[in-house]
Amino acid sequence: MNILDIAENSIRAGATLVEIRLELQGSKLTISIRDNGCGMSPELLNKVTDPFTTSRTTRKVGLGLPFYKMAAEMTGGTMQIESRLSVGTAVTATFFLSHIDCMPLGDLGATVATLMQCNPDIDFVFSLSDGAESFAADSRQFREILGGVPLSTPEVAFFIREYVSEHIKPILEKGI
Ligand SMILES: Nc1ncnc2c1ncn2[C@@H]1O[C@H](COP(=O)(O)OP(=O)(O)O)[C@@H](O)[C@H]1O
Ligand SMILES: [Mg+2]
Repeated sequence: MNILDIAENSIRAGATLVEIRLELQGSKLTISIRDNGCGMSPELLNKVTDPFTTSRTTRKVGLGLPFYKMAAEMTGGTMQIESRLSVGTAVTATFFLSHIDCMPLGDLGATVATLMQCNPDIDFVFSLSDGAESFAADSRQFREILGGVPLSTPEVAFFIREYVSEHIKPILEKGI
């Protein structure tokens, strides 16, 4: 859910490419979410982990980034944001999976499938590696294989979910 939320920021920032990279080193998981969206000014970047900062007009507080930071820090990890106006943003967080307060990773296959299904005009690259093994799913490749069939087709989303889940399972099981 956190990954979806952070990727949602990238989508709202007008990104055409969003890369979600997971790297496992033992029980340490580094998640980086990088986009080529509008980026943030240094002023916004400085205060963005403050829960009362948001550029939304529909509600007063933005909780996505502060919550994500808290989720990482609760496990002994960290969260950092790099951002440049008109270039893009990278949010990098580390989680210690063996920590009792670490939130479950959830259904990553469904997360990837949902992002690709709901945003068929945005490219997503999802990858997981543990140094020895790696897996990547790239919406540009799916689109090429599928010819004219849109990524928003329910059967396609179902396939992506299964495909991702199946391939990441053995890698994740080694780390946890
Ligand atoms: N990837 C991003 N690109 C550009 N701006 C971003 C990005 N992520 C966050 N922001 C800015 O930071 C603000 C706070 O984000 P967040 O904590 O997720 O709260 P919310 O999404 O509810 O506003 C957003 O309103 C937006 O202005
Ligand atoms: Mg948000």
